[in-house]
Amino acid sequence: MDDLSLADDFLARLQPSVAWVDDHIEIIDQTKLPTELEVLELRSVDQVADVILRLAVRGAPAIGSCGALGMVVGLDERRPVDAAAALAVLDDLVTVIGDARPTAVNLSWAVRRVRAAAAAGGADTVAGVRAAALAEADRIIHDDRDACTRIGLHGLEVLGDVSRILTHCNTGRLATAGWGTALGVVYAKAAAGQEVHVYASETRPLLQGARLTAWELHDAGIDVTLMPDGASSTAMKQGRVEAVIVGADRITANGDTANKIGTFTHAVNAHYAGIPFYVAAPLSTFDPSLASGDEIVIEERTPDEMRRWRGEPTAPDDVPVWNPAFDVTPHELITAIITEVGVLRPPYTESIAAAFARTVEHVG
Ligand code: MRU
Repeated sequence: MDDLSLADDFLARLQPSVAWVDDHIEIIDQTKLPTELEVLELRSVDQVADVILRLAVRGAPAIGSCGALGMVVGLDERRPVDAAAALAVLDDLVTVIGDARPTAVNLSWAVRRVRAAAAAGGADTVAGVRAAALAEADRIIHDDRDACTRIGLHGLEVLGDVSRILTHCNTGRLATAGWGTALGVVYAKAAAGQEVHVYASETRPLLQGARLTAWELHDAGIDVTLMPDGASSTAMKQGRVEAVIVGADRITANGDTANKIGTFTHAVNAHYAGIPFYVAAPLSTFDPSLASGDEIVIEERTPDEMRRWRGEPTAPDDVPVWNPAFDVTPHELITAIITEVGVLRPPYTESIAAAFARTVEHVG
């Protein structure tokens, strides 16, 4: 468990999902995939909040990275007069950027971490505060990349004998700073020369599985079969899949896991079929301040995401819509949680607490 360069060859030839370039942020515009690989430059807080809100950048770790760098963009844009004013700007941005999406804890965690590091640096100039903020944002991105590699390697411990894997939404190199969480395990299997075939559920209504996961795996030369979300129980009954692995947006102290809407259904199906259901996530996705998933705020998105697709109607214009973006899978349905510090098993209240006790880096 020491080859952290394992993902480097894979990532070297690829445009990162989020990056700091000279004096601005660059993101892959994920709304344009799979037809166009377009890079957007972000130079204002409004742009940062907007791309997060409309899922041009998405995936819990990636929005954390973008939000962290957005704090630096905000300092440059608002031009505070001294160090105290710079910290006051960062205080404000913790909310302005951190609240752009409520469910993925990585976003609020990352902006708070940047704010705390900027203050802890003790700088007495605006340039010093900015340097501390940028260094912390860089560290968040670097750490996420490492965490993904470690998750992939730990994933081999539990999925080494499994080749046919079902996943939901997109948890790969588009959603993180590295090769991904659940997809990190897939890439690690491929890098280890193991057979792997992914069933990607399309992930309605915004089709992250179809547009992003199928594209990303296909591009990487990994066998992938796209299927409708509703096909998962049948895929399991027919023996097409041996295990499910998904990512997470927020994991509470007892292991309850918020992830893309439809995840819970896959977990129920896996339970019925008697196959394992794994969650893969870095510690930055855990929220030990919440006792259970009942306390997680679930983002509800605009009805038009259900009524229209790229401008074309898919439902009556005025039909009432309920569009929750996430659901919560109860911990009882989760076989194990694969993290960068190891594979956590039930009882999660104990294994999660122990994982945090072993980790000094986490800012709560
Ligand atoms: O609404 P999205 O596309 O940001 O939702 C993303 C997910 O639910 C992912 O599964 C999760 O963030 C894990 S990404 C490694």
